[in-house]
Amino acid sequence: MKPSDPLSLPESLLLRLQDSKHVLVLTGAGMSAESGIATFRDAQTGLWARFRPEELATPQAFAAHPARVWSWYEERRHTVREAEPHAGHVALVEMEKMVPRLSIVTQNVDALHQRSGSGSVIELHGNIMRSICHLTSRPIDEEWLENSPDCPPRSPWARDGLARPDVVWFGESLPAEAMNSAMNAAVNCDFCFSIGTTSLVQPAASLPLLAVENGAILIEINPQETPLSLHANHCLRTSASEALTALLHQWKTRVQDHKPGAG
Ligand code: OAD
Repeated sequence: MKPSDPLSLPESLLLRLQDSKHVLVLTGAGMSAESGIATFRDAQTGLWARFRPEELATPQAFAAHPARVWSWYEERRHTVREAEPHAGHVALVEMEKMVPRLSIVTQNVDALHQRSGSGSVIELHGNIMRSICHLTSRPIDEEWLENSPDCPPRSPWARDGLARPDVVWFGESLPAEAMNSAMNAAVNCDFCFSIGTTSLVQPAASLPLLAVENGAILIEINPQETPLSLHANHCLRTSASEALTALLHQWKTRVQDHKPGAG
């Protein structure tokens, strides 16, 4: 392999991947970019380049301007409904079949991993397609929302309650069960991928470091350098779909070439 080849894993790391018992994959907004869902921090196209987070993605913003916040999420839900998983999502589904265990921990709220068929997905920041009562956090079903004339719809669970998206806003805690499962996976995995995240938002950003501290190999897939790059055993500097399809091909080819009796 040429050192500058952005698409191949060095043979020694491929071997470690092939022998891995538990692969952890942490994904961020860059994983969904090729499905047409905007990232948060990319300079021209990122959501936070066009909107101020504190005006839309905080409990304070929702309390002050519930209709504005709900409408913004309606727009994003529309984009997510139209989006399709890409070849990188599909490659992860294939990789899950090649190791005893593969856990995906995602910061994305679009459920594209689940839609593509990945089995073990931990949602750290919630799911934009689900709604909850803003006072009781009880789930509100789609049919109720569709039949509501209000923006945002009123909650069926509390007199002054409103429907809000089941996502984590700035200043809110992550769902405890998801965070515990994610930390468990980080401690127990032996191979970790960090894909399409700036690695700036905690606590998600610390998961790959926890994996490394516990002896895992770390590969970063991101066209850009991030604060995590320094800690990675190898960086694939290309898009998620390109890197993952190339990696799957490299992996399958190696397995094929090393089958007993394969020349
Ligand atoms: P960001 O928008 O901060 O970062 C997106 C990353 O994806 C950048 O590092 C890009 O270089 C990279 N990227 C862009 N296109 C890519 C592609 N095709 N393939 C691979 N990588 C690509 O998104 P996150 O790091 O996920 O939180 O942001 C973390 C959290 O900050 C989000 O979950 C959200 C936000 O505030 C909440 O809403 C709670």
